[in-house]
Amino acid sequence: MKATIVVLPGDGIGPEVTAEALRVLGAVARKGGHELRFEERLMGGCSIDAHGVALTPEVLRDCQAADAVLLGAVGGPKWDDPRAKVRPEQGLLGLRKGLGVFANLRPVRVHPALVDASPLKADRLVGVDILVIRELTGGLYFGEPKGRHMKDGHEHAVDTLDYADYEVRRVTELAFRLAKGRRRKVTSVDKANVLESSRLWRQVATAVGQENPDVALDHMLVDTAAMRLVQAPASFDVLVTENMFGDILTDEAAVLAGSMGMLPSASLGAGGPGLYEPIHGSAPDIAGKGIANPLGTILSAAMMLRHSLGLEEEAAAVERAAEAAITGGARTADLGGTLSTRAMADEVLRRL
Ligand code: IPM
Ligand code: MG
Repeated sequence: MKATIVVLPGDGIGPEVTAEALRVLGAVARKGGHELRFEERLMGGCSIDAHGVALTPEVLRDCQAADAVLLGAVGGPKWDDPRAKVRPEQGLLGLRKGLGVFANLRPVRVHPALVDASPLKADRLVGVDILVIRELTGGLYFGEPKGRHMKDGHEHAVDTLDYADYEVRRVTELAFRLAKGRRRKVTSVDKANVLESSRLWRQVATAVGQENPDVALDHMLVDTAAMRLVQAPASFDVLVTENMFGDILTDEAAVLAGSMGMLPSASLGAGGPGLYEPIHGSAPDIAGKGIANPLGTILSAAMMLRHSLGLEEEAAAVERAAEAAITGGARTADLGGTLSTRAMADEVLRRL
């Protein structure tokens, strides 16, 4: 197998964690005789410093032409001026939109050995295995109009939550498809008691549910979902929701797993290259220290092997090796341990 992967290390701890994921991908390639070509590019704050924008058209084009894109993290205090016209996050949103990756898969599992790393009571965490599917190219992040204007002598700011029926349909269809390989339960999360866009969301999700009678569908209001996620997290199988609802709920769900550093994500569209990134941010406070947890990025690389490169066996092998490392007691600082970023990756490589 031959594939080209664009690597966007980004800012903060991004370069540290992507370097370790590349070592793991390199090992997988050597073992299986696959030819993985890595092309490193700038995106985020580092691209603002070099080119004045967070994502250049050239880098976007390279990403669109690749088989998959691996991303570390973007952003940091250096680029955090709220009045700034260019922001690292624009690169990330531009990339998601430019690749058309409308579905962001964020699996949340609780490793039995990490139950104590979570602030939740251990008995609540037994059997937690959630796949959150966050709509990624629409909703409140992308709706128009957005911006500032003066009205009645006051400054106003507007963001718009806009969904077309087809945008809801394609992401909920994916939720049902993936639920069929799991426990066959979809929870569609909205705010249909208040928002018109949520009433359309619920209408479309209901229709897709009727087309998939072998999967159970329930609807849940987002505030209830926020509560249920900590009260009874094991009751969820596949959860599908609007862009910003998903952003918020996945940070909450990450607490279940003990650390943000553990969680991977895959962003998929209609057949083009997928985008793979850990759900944690650039963590400027620990950047450059070599202590970040690389597992979120390594597990994102595993999702890349599965969803973009068709290497299911290799993906599962990486996931097993990461799990075994945790079982074997490997812990970075976020998990209460002392292993460096590199040493944690070594623990995974040793078991691969
Ligand atoms: C995430 C992040 C991003 C988002 C930020 C960095 C723009 O929080 O991937 O969850 O809000 O989507
Ligand atoms: Mg987020």
